[in-house]
Amino acid sequence: MQKSISISILDAKNIPNFLEELKTYKKNEDCFENWIHFDVMDGKFVNNTGIDLKYIKTAKNLGFYTDTHLMVEKPLGDKYIDKAIEYGTDIITIHYEISNFNAVLNRLISIKKELYKTCNRELKIGVSIKPNTDVKELKKYSDMFDLLLIMSVEPGYGGQSYIYNTNEKISIARRLFKDKIIQVDGGVNLETIETPLSLNVDSFVVGSYLTKNDAKDNLLKLNILKYLTNLPKDGNLEFDKKLLMIVPGGYGENDTLLGISVPTMRKAARVWYKDINLTTLTPYISSIYHDYRRFAIFCMSNIVKKYYSKNEDNKIKDVVDFMCSNVSYINNWDLTDEAGPNILGFYLMSINISKAKEEVLKFVENDNIWIKRIGIVSLLTMARNNKLNFCIDICKNHMYNENHLIQKAIGWVLREVYKKDSKKIVDLLKDKNSKKKLPTILLSYACERMSSIEKNSIKNN
Ligand code: DX5
Ligand code: ZN
Repeated sequence: MQKSISISILDAKNIPNFLEELKTYKKNEDCFENWIHFDVMDGKFVNNTGIDLKYIKTAKNLGFYTDTHLMVEKPLGDKYIDKAIEYGTDIITIHYEISNFNAVLNRLISIKKELYKTCNRELKIGVSIKPNTDVKELKKYSDMFDLLLIMSVEPGYGGQSYIYNTNEKISIARRLFKDKIIQVDGGVNLETIETPLSLNVDSFVVGSYLTKNDAKDNLLKLNILKYLTNLPKDGNLEFDKKLLMIVPGGYGENDTLLGISVPTMRKAARVWYKDINLTTLTPYISSIYHDYRRFAIFCMSNIVKKYYSKNEDNKIKDVVDFMCSNVSYINNWDLTDEAGPNILGFYLMSINISKAKEEVLKFVENDNIWIKRIGIVSLLTMARNNKLNFCIDICKNHMYNENHLIQKAIGWVLREVYKKDSKKIVDLLKDKNSKKKLPTILLSYACERMSSIEKNSIKNN
């Protein structure tokens, strides 16, 4: 079955408007199904009143699948079940901890059968347990319910924090009830959803993470996370770790690589970049996972290319500003070599040359090696667009940099300029090398396409 986000509208300011807004949420491939979760309370089982059951009808009229969570002492006696059925709910969940649980569950089963027989209506029965209830208590009822709702907060209020030991309970539940819908409810957000998602939970009740924020943007973040966690780990993990120095003592030693290949991540970025705003990428550009930061930068590159092709220059600046506010996370050469040419590079192309020089120097003259590298490799785009003197002006003051990461990057830029005007580069290298021996790495890349005559003229000058 498709995984679902069951949106708890308990704390929505205006429920009908919120439901209408949710209806406009554009689904993308491999998304969560969006259900609506109705937290109904009687002030006795929990000391809160919850929401009016009538909103089930509103949601049904909008075409939503509806999931009613009865936190009430007498679901039958106080007519909550009757009303929920009357309004058309698809799921009714009762709490194991109510006094006459067995009787109510049996009655629900006969209602379910009756509905199916008389109007072919598929009602699902849910059973919910509070944080302190042992999930094994439900074993003896296992053929009487369809959905197990595991509370990851004490029922009664939205906006509480996820109780992390719920994840052990989820693992046990997943083993005990392989054919049931396992649902988790309370404090679920982008951070806390990752473990239950990996434990194969089917449905996630999410309230304040959506009702107290930009619901559609946060829904997107949740769907992107689900999409990314489903991606194959098809990279060459150990090889890539060495390449990126994600090894003890290496410059990437504190990073975490999942091993999703670059082509797979580029494809993922193509799937999502059109639907997102830059804020959607915040959790990904700052992720502990190197792969997710790559995803964010690939999305940003695609967004810049889209804006550049439409001459929407002011919007390119927004992406560069977003990049700058997250530049500390662009902390390895594969990330800088994507961000430099494809984000900063196109920005430089979209502004006048003197402003471009001012902007690129902010990066090139930064002491942080990765920020410096972003500035240098952004010149690749300038060189490819014949801004040759611009590139030489910037590079010539950094050709004796001690760091091989910079020497290599400058070598690439000079090689790119050489392709357009070989004499400029031969003369530059001759001059510079005669004054002080240039770094071998820089020379090897800059002279890569040169004839042996050109190379010797530089060396012997
Ligand atoms: C709490 C309810 C939950 C709650 C979820 O008693 O059952 O559905 O509203 O809200 P958040 O996601 O904010 O914890
Ligand atoms: Zn609930």
